[in-house]
Amino acid sequence: MALRKIVTKEDPILRRISRKVEKFDKRLWDLLDDMKETLADADGAGLAAVQVGVLRRVVIVDVGDGLLELINPEITDKSEEFQEEAEGCLSIPGEYGITRRPQWVIVKAQNREGKWVLYKGEGLKARCFCHELDHLDGILYTDNVIEMLDEDDL
Ligand code: NI
Repeated sequence: MALRKIVTKEDPILRRISRKVEKFDKRLWDLLDDMKETLADADGAGLAAVQVGVLRRVVIVDVGDGLLELINPEITDKSEEFQEEAEGCLSIPGEYGITRRPQWVIVKAQNREGKWVLYKGEGLKARCFCHELDHLDGILYTDNVIEMLDEDDL
């Protein structure tokens, strides 16, 4: 495993659309393992492959109850209720803002073997799923932020 460099918001790659994963091979597993190490090192809750410069539809999420690997993920259902909470991004260090996200979402994704799995995320995990899936389509949370926060507000 190896740490990979996290790109920051000035890098235009963050605005590109990531491509579907077709091969569930060692190259993908190395990427996932490196992303896991990079996320832990950065002390984050989620990371998309594009943030380490790889335009593939790969996301990892860890909100403290175990690491999830989501490949080719899609939101298949979401709550009508919303939550408005503070959010940050490892590619936009030191900044935070209030965003509006569904209270819960259901995500369908492949695991590292290519098997389809359903996940439910509520609260923080729902926010994290939405945030990371947005990265795969070139969207940053600051695009739809309700209000940016000063660090003093946190
Ligand atoms: Ni992010």
